[in-house]
Amino acid sequence: MEEDSFKEILKKYNQEHVLVAYERADEEKKKEIINQVKRIDFEQMKDLYDLTKKEIKFENSIIEPIQYLDSLKLTDEEKRKYIEKGEEIIKNEKLAVITMAGGQGTRLGHNGPKGTYDMGLESHKSLFELLVDDLKETKQKYGVAVPWYIMTSKENNSDTEKFFKEHNYFDYPKDSIRMFFKQGELPMLDEDGKLIIDETGKIKEAADGHGGIFGAIFKNGVLDDMKNKGIEWIFVGAVDNPLARMTDPLFIGFAAVNNYYTASKTIAKAYPEEKVGVFCKKDGKPYVIEYTELSKEQANQRNSDGELTYGEAHVLLNLFHISTLEKIKEVKLPYHCAHKKANYIDIDGNVIKPEKPNAYKFEAFIFDAFALLPEIGILKGVRENDFAPIKNAEGNDSPETARRLYIDFQNRKRDGVI
Ligand code: UTP
Repeated sequence: MEEDSFKEILKKYNQEHVLVAYERADEEKKKEIINQVKRIDFEQMKDLYDLTKKEIKFENSIIEPIQYLDSLKLTDEEKRKYIEKGEEIIKNEKLAVITMAGGQGTRLGHNGPKGTYDMGLESHKSLFELLVDDLKETKQKYGVAVPWYIMTSKENNSDTEKFFKEHNYFDYPKDSIRMFFKQGELPMLDEDGKLIIDETGKIKEAADGHGGIFGAIFKNGVLDDMKNKGIEWIFVGAVDNPLARMTDPLFIGFAAVNNYYTASKTIAKAYPEEKVGVFCKKDGKPYVIEYTELSKEQANQRNSDGELTYGEAHVLLNLFHISTLEKIKEVKLPYHCAHKKANYIDIDGNVIKPEKPNAYKFEAFIFDAFALLPEIGILKGVRENDFAPIKNAEGNDSPETARRLYIDFQNRKRDGVI
């Protein structure tokens, strides 16, 4: 792109402030800024900015409860059947795992990829190491090193790879850590719809949400690698839940025995107003409805067992059959916008570190893919055994709460209670 047309584009889309950053940049950075402008779909950015002004309405949709199976209500016979099937899948090397580690971890505020975070255990293990412990245990038990793929973002990919290398891949077989692959990204916008100049003097871009996984595994050859290895089932989980049991045979068997080509392990909402998305059916299709989208009545509604009708929280413990991933690899999911804090360089060249959210980030959500599927298997897990999220620096879902849950789980495991 010539400098002239670059300037014209910025003018056309009211983004001429980028030129100030451009003039300030050295030759190499100038080239990078031109490349960024070349890549940006400005029409799409206009639509995304409009999205920040829109209120999402659901009044024309039919929201209904969705069926699920409670793992605590399984008979011994059912449990045995599922576990046997899950173990067979693991032993036959049909399972792979993807950890989504492309997020920014803004709320936690840790300097570096979230997976490198030390949550303060005596062992000082990082989140990555706590996750790999689960894979190592499976290897010990079944003699199979489950292939592990790690989704990163442009922002954190090299730091992530470096961390693994420095820690000798946590003594997991290196060839089973198959790939670090980068998800896509989108520019962030300020509250006036302007592109943001980041601290390095370039246009600020950020990972395009965990829903970016479907396109990313396709574009980066992850799907092909899995196919070549004969993988059939793929567990997809978050990096910030040290209790994510990525190779749980019960969950895997539940999906396989019942022919659910997509399955999600949920946990019961702690209380009706908890700020989590829950499963439902929207217009007959599986859907995760945000807490903001549920009416007060719906949030408090209970079924005949006294359980919340809309109480199955989606907590990023998902399992896909490879055929599902094949089907949705090129689907474009909708974007949602999040209001976040983003450091930036102002027009006078000062670095500004805002105290409150100042920027919009656009993200696709993994669970929007569920609406593309005829059905999804939902297995209700147990909060204390499955979910210890680290989202905030303090308070709810913080290192302190996660540490407590993690230690308690390990103690119960040691005592043979689970
Ligand atoms: P969250 O949506 O909770 O975001 O991610 P986050 O990045 O960890 O934290 P905040 O919102 O900035 O404070 C849930 C999981 O999805 C991954 C995260 O790495 C985490 O494992 N994720 C999120 C991605 O891999 N890519 C994304 O673009 C967003």
